[in-house]
Amino acid sequence: MFLKLAHQIWKSHLRPGNFAIDATCGNGYDTEVLSRFNLAHLYVFDIQKKALNSTKSRVGESKNISYHLECHSMLSPVKDPIDLIVYNLGYLPGGDKSLTTNVQTTIKSIETGMVLLNPGGLISCMLYPGHTEGAREESALITLVANFSPKKFQVSHHQSINRSKGPSLLLIQKII
Ligand SMILES: C[S@@+](CC[C@H](N)C(=O)[O-])C[C@H]1O[C@@H](n2cnc3c(N)ncnc32)[C@H](O)[C@@H]1O
Repeated sequence: MFLKLAHQIWKSHLRPGNFAIDATCGNGYDTEVLSRFNLAHLYVFDIQKKALNSTKSRVGESKNISYHLECHSMLSPVKDPIDLIVYNLGYLPGGDKSLTTNVQTTIKSIETGMVLLNPGGLISCMLYPGHTEGAREESALITLVANFSPKKFQVSHHQSINRSKGPSLLLIQKII
């Protein structure tokens, strides 16, 4: 449900010629959605070759998409101001659960991403508190973003109120 909501939000946010990052491509479902928006460039990251291969075979290769087999913490290949950064945290479905995103690198990446964002740019982050590291990530991220200046960032957290530990969606929009 929240992933569909995220996709709808991306759709209303993105314009042709924008720049975006998929920071956790996994099996490429989110990359596929992003690839439909006539972006000037889409940067795609994952730490697993298996994930990048799966995404490449789903989405294909083009001059508008670059694939990066590296941790998203530094986002160093990114050379453009960015309009949307998406995270779908956790581990590769059907893959090695120990290769999961974690608090330290996720926070580093979001802090790096906030600097790369254009004014009005958005970070969309799907959180999965149903597993141990996912619960840590949700808690640490909510604590972090709750302290952002409301003059600089608009932050919202969408979660189920009748299901504990269900997935949730965190949105961080840069105002200036
Ligand atoms: C839940 S999956 C992503 C699902 C994906 N967006 C999709 O549509 O199929 C999370 C992915 O994050 C990747 N990952 C874990 N730690 C990472 C890191 N530090 N940097 C980049 N990717 C990472 C995992 O390898 C895994 O493929």
